[in-house]
Amino acid sequence: MRYTVVLTAEFPKIARDILAPHVDVIEHPTEHGRTEEDMITILADADGAITLLQDPITRRVLESNPNLRIVSNLAVGYNNIDVEAARELGIAIGNTPGVLTEATADLTMALMLAVLRRIVEADRELREEGRCEWEPLKLLGASLQGKTLGIVGMGRIGSAVASRARAFGMNVAGIRRGGSLEELLAQSDVVSLHVPLSRETRHLIDAGALAKMKRGAYLINTSRGALVDEDALCDALESGQLRGAGLDVYEFEPAVNPRLLTMKNVVILPHIGSATEEARTAMARIAATNVLRYLRGEEPLHRVV
Ligand code: DGY
Repeated sequence: MRYTVVLTAEFPKIARDILAPHVDVIEHPTEHGRTEEDMITILADADGAITLLQDPITRRVLESNPNLRIVSNLAVGYNNIDVEAARELGIAIGNTPGVLTEATADLTMALMLAVLRRIVEADRELREEGRCEWEPLKLLGASLQGKTLGIVGMGRIGSAVASRARAFGMNVAGIRRGGSLEELLAQSDVVSLHVPLSRETRHLIDAGALAKMKRGAYLINTSRGALVDEDALCDALESGQLRGAGLDVYEFEPAVNPRLLTMKNVVILPHIGSATEEARTAMARIAATNVLRYLRGEEPLHRVV
């Protein structure tokens, strides 16, 4: 019997190449704003699926198709999936850790440099003026050298950021689960977030936490938007409590707080932490292999349920 595997978007070609010789592949075009109902329709014939972080894989979706055996997210995160429901229903959940660590750590450093050295602002100014004038006091930013970087979450990505930051001459302080966030916030010139989103970590950085940061510090977030209370962040940026922020993720993605859009002291990117050809190809390879292995009765490469 040939299984059917649904790809909910256009993925790197490698996913189809791995799957097509062995299963029927249904590839959907990439669409934004898919609802629960959309997912139920799309997954109706699936024995396995490769999904996106923004696909709502709720209990209703998982229950809607009794043939569904594995959902493999093209992401290390899986906060779009009701893992409890999957566990109860006996549906395996796969993810793609490891291969996006370096890309995400690179982007974290890019954001840090962009914010502290005001790179986007400078680029915009040059384009507007059409000239390059050197001035002693123009676009002065802050050096990374000698600053303390507080890393919230010293897992794979947090540790990769730490080694890059040390190479830039930063002092690195990091906390794992259970470490004192308060102390870290109070001592850091730059705080970078690298923890998954869960009930416990939602709004980890709220108004209270922002007030505990050093006045004039910077916040970098390449993890999950809802770790931060975005309105409180905007208040802190407007009041000068924070000097700047570099964000790749947003609390209500795909929406971005309109206050952020007009601020000069933030650099905002459209969730591109893992967006290198190398990382996305490796992610697609793992996601497809997860599905294929499971349908063949083998263990997926990376399984969270
Ligand atoms: C992930 O993998 O969880 C990222 O947010 C998307 O690359």
